Amino acid sequence: MTSQPGTGTDADAADSAMQAAAKRNLWLHFTRMSSYDKAEMPVIVRGSGPYVYDQHGKRYLDGLSGLFVSAIGHGRTEVAEAAARQMSELAYFPLWSYAHPRAIELAQRLADLAPGDLNRVFFTTSGSEAVESAWKLAKQYFKAIGQPDRYKVISREIAYHGTSMGALAITGLASIKAPFEPLPPGGVRVPNTNFYRAPEFVADDLDAFGRWAADEIDRAIVREGPESVAAVFLEPVQNSGGCFPPPPGYFEQVRKICDKYGVLLVSDEVICAFGRLGYYFGSQRYGYQPDIITFAKGATSGYAPLGGMITSDALMEPFSEGTATFLHGVTFAGHPVSCAVALANLDVFEKEDLLGNVRANEAAFRATLEKLTDLPIVGDVRGDGYFYGIELVKDKATRETFTDDESERLLRGFLSHTLLDAGLVCRTDDRGDPVIQLAPPLICTQEHFDEMEQILRSVLAEAWTRI
Ligand SMILES: Cc1ncc(COP(=O)(O)O)c(C=O)c1O
Repeated sequence: MTSQPGTGTDADAADSAMQAAAKRNLWLHFTRMSSYDKAEMPVIVRGSGPYVYDQHGKRYLDGLSGLFVSAIGHGRTEVAEAAARQMSELAYFPLWSYAHPRAIELAQRLADLAPGDLNRVFFTTSGSEAVESAWKLAKQYFKAIGQPDRYKVISREIAYHGTSMGALAITGLASIKAPFEPLPPGGVRVPNTNFYRAPEFVADDLDAFGRWAADEIDRAIVREGPESVAAVFLEPVQNSGGCFPPPPGYFEQVRKICDKYGVLLVSDEVICAFGRLGYYFGSQRYGYQPDIITFAKGATSGYAPLGGMITSDALMEPFSEGTATFLHGVTFAGHPVSCAVALANLDVFEKEDLLGNVRANEAAFRATLEKLTDLPIVGDVRGDGYFYGIELVKDKATRETFTDDESERLLRGFLSHTLLDAGLVCRTDDRGDPVIQLAPPLICTQEHFDEMEQILRSVLAEAWTRI
């Protein structure tokens, strides 16, 4: 139900006061604030399961888990109660020189869940801090073991790894880096695994494409000088650009390349951990062993902020004796309430077998989204688990994409607000080629897939008539 401006009720007055305050005082992230000069700013006031509700009571299917976060869905009172209990018991104490029970329990539980010898957990409050920490650890680790020249980091084109200065230097999106240059030196780019846009000489052969993309990392290491390269940062499925899964054998090859040159492999799982791909960690799905996993988002399903990195025993070794110290930390990292929330979140995962739900339903999710390929504007549907990108094209046969101007009109001028108006939270993004991204809560089933498909079908059909 939409409130009627000018009816003079108390609720209407409160709504307009909230809008006015939002427009006057709140600064939204990565948002053109001017787009709300005339339009109402969406205000989400509550959530329940896979749905959220705005200030007018209108319901939306949360097809993006907020921002790839709300794995267990919204409104879980048992998680809220765990947070309240922890606040009463110990609201805060730092992880600087002290431990607290929830951080210990969570570190142990994550080490048990993580692959291989990833047994040491360093908490942060966000994904950017996790990525920043991983780079800092790599640099200090190599200094500690007598390889002080290793500082460079390799990552993929268009990949997003966060916004703090270090994480931004690893990020491969030129447009969001430019205003902040010069960034810390050492970021090196290699091609991503977008098979839909593969170079012609490997465009018909996924295996060959994967080998080529992995070997590009080898070539980059050699070009830079292996003695100067510290780490390769890769997501299991690259988010930015619209969900690029790894070709078969890609990570196996990357692992070999990293071992050949003594370079660390960091699996940035800020999105891909905690069930997004049907496993606790994305690296488990594709069968590779990283030296560090970075995580955030689904670790708490957003009931409190928490991120971190899980490192191998070997990386901890130089810091385990004498005066050696990893010279890094943040005040709120491993906050007791966030750790209690993360433990309660994992309890829900286990009790409701959410990994099993994703594995049982992911094929149906894919099949439902693939129905959209009968629309002329849908060029590609790609992803894994509960993590999909739909690439929009001007010409399916040639895969011609939209001009910047068309993309601006299509995504910002039409799709993003029309999809929301139609009741679907998802993401429209043209930082690579134009895509719509979906990453629903892991509790979703066929009825939610159908709801997403139906909304997308009608809005995309309408979009095509406006091009
Ligand atoms: C792969 C990856 N790394 C790092 C980040 C940064 O995380 P945060 O926004 O929590 O700082 C993100 C955020 O989306 C991400 O997707």
